[in-house]
Amino acid sequence: MNTKLLEAYKKSFNTKPLKYFSSPCRINLIGEHTDYNKGLALPAAISKYIQAVVGIRSDRKISLKSLEKSKVVTVDLDNISNKPENRWGNYPLGIFATLQKRGYKLPFGLDIIFYSNVPIASGLSSSASLLDLTAFIASIMYDIPLDKKEIALLAHQSETEFNGLLCGVMDEFAIALGKKDKCILLDCKDNSFTYEDISFQDLSLVVIVSNVRRSLIASPYNKRVEECNSALKIIQKQFDVASLSDIKVSDLPMCRKLIKDDVLYKRVRHIVNENQRVRDFVKASKSGDIRSMIHLLNESHESLRDDYEVTGEYLDYIHEISLKYGAFAERMTGAGFGGSSIALIKQRDFKSFKENLTRDYINKYHIKPTIFLADICDGLSVEDIK
Ligand code: GLA
Repeated sequence: MNTKLLEAYKKSFNTKPLKYFSSPCRINLIGEHTDYNKGLALPAAISKYIQAVVGIRSDRKISLKSLEKSKVVTVDLDNISNKPENRWGNYPLGIFATLQKRGYKLPFGLDIIFYSNVPIASGLSSSASLLDLTAFIASIMYDIPLDKKEIALLAHQSETEFNGLLCGVMDEFAIALGKKDKCILLDCKDNSFTYEDISFQDLSLVVIVSNVRRSLIASPYNKRVEECNSALKIIQKQFDVASLSDIKVSDLPMCRKLIKDDVLYKRVRHIVNENQRVRDFVKASKSGDIRSMIHLLNESHESLRDDYEVTGEYLDYIHEISLKYGAFAERMTGAGFGGSSIALIKQRDFKSFKENLTRDYINKYHIKPTIFLADICDGLSVEDIK
């Protein structure tokens, strides 16, 4: 329980604080930009959190406050729309709008105060964390029986329909369903998943946040989704495939013949190879083949850089210097365009790795990166406030 948050709630609102909620963030080990192509991903929840204290109001208003910001966003449940002045509040508000669109009756308003120790716009999915958290809050406070998978799907519906990002379901699944020390092998074809023990043997997983702030809605993310859809339409004229993830690596020469546009073909090549890399990575982990795992992680970064073109210069520089300063593998994680990376290093090298990277990155960009050891943790949680 975050007592500072509880105290802040009492100062901000007159209602009784009833429950305390917590939602982690996520990294993705491999399988990038595959989710909206109905492919495979291997994310995990990590212990950077958005937390909330919640109480019930006697009217029909939703009042949102963040510990880090002074402005309170207050909106009537009967009059929710996506407005620029609501800023970050548009994420939680979208959940209430989406529930009502689905036909749920929300009989009373809520006071909610949030706290976050997640670097914002960092590629660790703070927005999906906020969405999952609010979906979980709504399901508990309004007694709507949704399991964690349904929470993830509700949050995803809200992000695409209310916030306008054409994203896949990976982030919402990883955050809602996260399990300590496990990765989630997610098949976005039917949203089925299994928990996997991924062993890096004597290597440790490090997260490097570039601290280049970016908004995915303003990035070429949606453009990549459209490029994949255009390429799929071309392939579907000749072949019976439901998504790019139905295409095998051995089908790529056939795709090359059909797709005249070089850029579109590169996008397809990334998706097809990346799905195969996820399968190979899980297989290599099961047989203790760390060399193949390392190779696949590095190859994934190169494919995202050269074929999918989402890494950008900051993440490419981090990739380059990480390998120089002792990382065995390094790749961007999440959407790219700035954001974060993951690396595998010997734990005893962590201090020098961090120092070297920080120095070079500051020298080049005058920005301090955030670097920490990944702690894979459980997903959403709730506690009563006594
Ligand atoms: C963002 C999106 C996810 C996924 C990743 C890239 O995090 O929210 O759905 O597409 O980018 O793998």
